[in-house]
Amino acid sequence: MRMKLLCTAVVLLTAVAACSGNGEETVASADPTMAAPAPNATESPAAAPRPQKQLPGLDYLQQIPYAYRVANEHPDMLAQIPCYCPCELYGHGGVIDCYRSQHAAGCATCLEEAVLAGKLLEQAEARGPEVYTQIAAEVKKRYRTAIVRSHLQKNDMPNLQSDKGRAFLAACSDCHQPPHPAMYTADNWRRSLSRMEAYANQRGMEMNPAQWEAAVSYLRSTASQFTPEEGDNYRAELARAVEHLKRTEGESVYYPSPRDKILAPEWFERMVQAYRLARDIPADVLAATPIDDPGCSNLLQCLNSTSAFTSEAAVEAVFQIAADRAGGD
Ligand code: HEC
Repeated sequence: MRMKLLCTAVVLLTAVAACSGNGEETVASADPTMAAPAPNATESPAAAPRPQKQLPGLDYLQQIPYAYRVANEHPDMLAQIPCYCPCELYGHGGVIDCYRSQHAAGCATCLEEAVLAGKLLEQAEARGPEVYTQIAAEVKKRYRTAIVRSHLQKNDMPNLQSDKGRAFLAACSDCHQPPHPAMYTADNWRRSLSRMEAYANQRGMEMNPAQWEAAVSYLRSTASQFTPEEGDNYRAELARAVEHLKRTEGESVYYPSPRDKILAPEWFERMVQAYRLARDIPADVLAATPIDDPGCSNLLQCLNSTSAFTSEAAVEAVFQIAADRAGGD
């Protein structure tokens, strides 16, 4: 079982890392209908080790302020949509919480869910709470179906194709990405699950008792196939990913409160503007500018990765260089 567990942990961690904007990952799209950003080489490859720009496309970047605007203008709509990157597994109550920090900017799923909701709202003929509910249900359905399909295809947990495995995928995808059963021992699942039932009650969700029971039975019997050390390793990996998120995005990314403000889109508009300016700045000038950021050490690295999406130091450095160059002309 060890190899399987490690592989799963890597899959999950990759998803968390993609959510963390740590600069190593390019942003991956969870939804095949939405395009991931195409790195857009703006300079022809020169003889080795010359630094090169591999900036994300402006179309992708512009989604970031757009999504923060949707979150600010329609929080009641986003509050009804789960986030199918594994945000809830570290304390988010749904995709709206991704917008209480810079988290959503570096997380393709968080971003695309809000963008899709915003676009559907633009197309809707009416406004009001029913429209919010309909759109939220549509976005949830698309992402939930995609995540369940992807688990079934990857078969990344034991016996997913069995009746109980399918019940688990169905019951545990209602509010978030289904977690790996090895996360807790058979006995320790109880405490976590009673919280899930309370959430369902609070939200007035109709649970199917037979399905829930089958899901719990799947979790407990699957969890007991893993050794306690494997479970410990799994949780330790998750804890490391959370530590990384806190370091790069601040404490508020973890267990945010509904009282935490949704971030305004303006700073993200400035970030997109910095990317526009960076197109005219030579790669070696960017590479020669050191940046103090947990995800990147020079400006070129920051801009080539998702790190600059959330780095004030990187964004301000671009404006400074652009102003100096304009002044020097
Ligand atoms: C009604 C919505 C809902 C359903 C259904 C649901 N969860 Fe959750 N779950 C949440 C929310 C909200 C959070 C984040 C807040 C928290 O951790 O308390 C969460 C967090 C978690 C976490 C991370 C926190 C922890 O306890 O370690 C795990 C694991 C988890 N859920 C497992 C499950 C499993 C397994 C199922 C299916 C049997 C399930 N959930 C079904 C709402 C739900």
